[in-house]
Amino acid sequence: MNTVAVIGLSWGDEGKGKIVDLLSEKADVVARYQGGTNAGHTVYYKGKPFSLHLIPSGIFNKNTICVIGNGCVVDLKSLEEEILLLKKEGLDVDRRLFISNRAHITFPFHIDEDQRIEEKKGEQKLGTTIRGVGPTYRDKYARIGIRVVDLFHPDDFRKLLELNLKTKKGMLKKLSINSIIEEYHSIAQKLEECFIDTVQFLNDEIDKDKRVLFEGAQGTLLDVDLGTYPYVTSSHPTIGGICSGTGVPGSKIKRVIGVAKAYATRVGKGPFPTEFEMDFESHFRKDAKEFGATTGRPRKCGWFDAVGIRYACMVNGVTSVVITKLDCLSGVDKIKVCVDYKTKDSRKLLSFPADAKKLSVVKPVYEEFTGWKGDIRGIKELRKLPKEALAYISALEKILRKEIVVVSTGPIRDETIVKGRIW
Ligand code: IMP
Repeated sequence: MNTVAVIGLSWGDEGKGKIVDLLSEKADVVARYQGGTNAGHTVYYKGKPFSLHLIPSGIFNKNTICVIGNGCVVDLKSLEEEILLLKKEGLDVDRRLFISNRAHITFPFHIDEDQRIEEKKGEQKLGTTIRGVGPTYRDKYARIGIRVVDLFHPDDFRKLLELNLKTKKGMLKKLSINSIIEEYHSIAQKLEECFIDTVQFLNDEIDKDKRVLFEGAQGTLLDVDLGTYPYVTSSHPTIGGICSGTGVPGSKIKRVIGVAKAYATRVGKGPFPTEFEMDFESHFRKDAKEFGATTGRPRKCGWFDAVGIRYACMVNGVTSVVITKLDCLSGVDKIKVCVDYKTKDSRKLLSFPADAKKLSVVKPVYEEFTGWKGDIRGIKELRKLPKEALAYISALEKILRKEIVVVSTGPIRDETIVKGRIW
């Protein structure tokens, strides 16, 4: 079997887009398995940054087929816009982009609901991306969701819409069911060729020994079950999400590559134990360009949190690790890595806390490493790294007890050190 899963090991924004783009040079198929347009995967194409929100990052490789699996929620209007933008760049997506006919649809009213729920929560808001992702998953689990396959049965589609909107009476501004039906009928016609049974397709491709890559969106600590609940997304970025979100069984996933930045970031609300001191953070954020690709929000920045990452390696069965944005640490005098959490009364925690409140008061225990001065952007060979950067990478390998197979030294595809086996 030639399959690889690429999974974020923290709160998303680990730089998975670039890594998937790089790995998909050798992939026949790249499949997303969860999330919706809340993802922001930045890939450099022809020297320009391009932010993808729903389409898999493999789309920039002309020979790669991209799949949006049944576990994703699809905002078809935004998908159309993304396809148009790619076409403008000269990228042909015809017969290269397939969407599961089982995927649930995010409608504009889901986006309205996302906004309203956040407003109502006031101080307790989560800081969602307001892409309607949570409300779409909520409808899915309440069994009032509308799937791609329903678009092709006009009577059923109307009934499902009526039922869905009935449950939200008074919560939404008056909507015209007829105009929604008309609009989505036209979208469905335009995208008809993209909608297939991706469960059968992916399993057939794997059985033919094709190279299939599963692209995670967000990250392990945002997983609705395994993350820092309630400050999480509404899907499963972790390994189990691949099985339910594509119909590919765990026994067909050969390698699991976990992606982490050389430091830590987080957007939205929720605990972040290793956050930098404020002055250093704002200065670092600017240099490292840590602003959200989907929302433009400033990301909180902090030290590498090996406790969270070890937990993420465990729950995903990670076989090797990729470290991104090492170049952004250049010039930092002393680099810290959190190796343990302690409680207020100095007891060491034996596992990653289930309770966000408990996580917000842990005291990180740091190991310190000497930084390096010169610019390392674009370095492609391990031996060309300053000795302090090399020492940092091998320390991370020891702390995580995992091999680091790729080190990213810049946003562009070839600004990368490949030091171990990927496929
Ligand atoms: P939602 O996924 O839009 O419902 O937002 C839930 C939480 O997940 C918020 O804290 C978001 O900021 C966060 N989130 C969602 N997508 C991403 C992502 O791609 N990167 C980082 N954080 C994300």
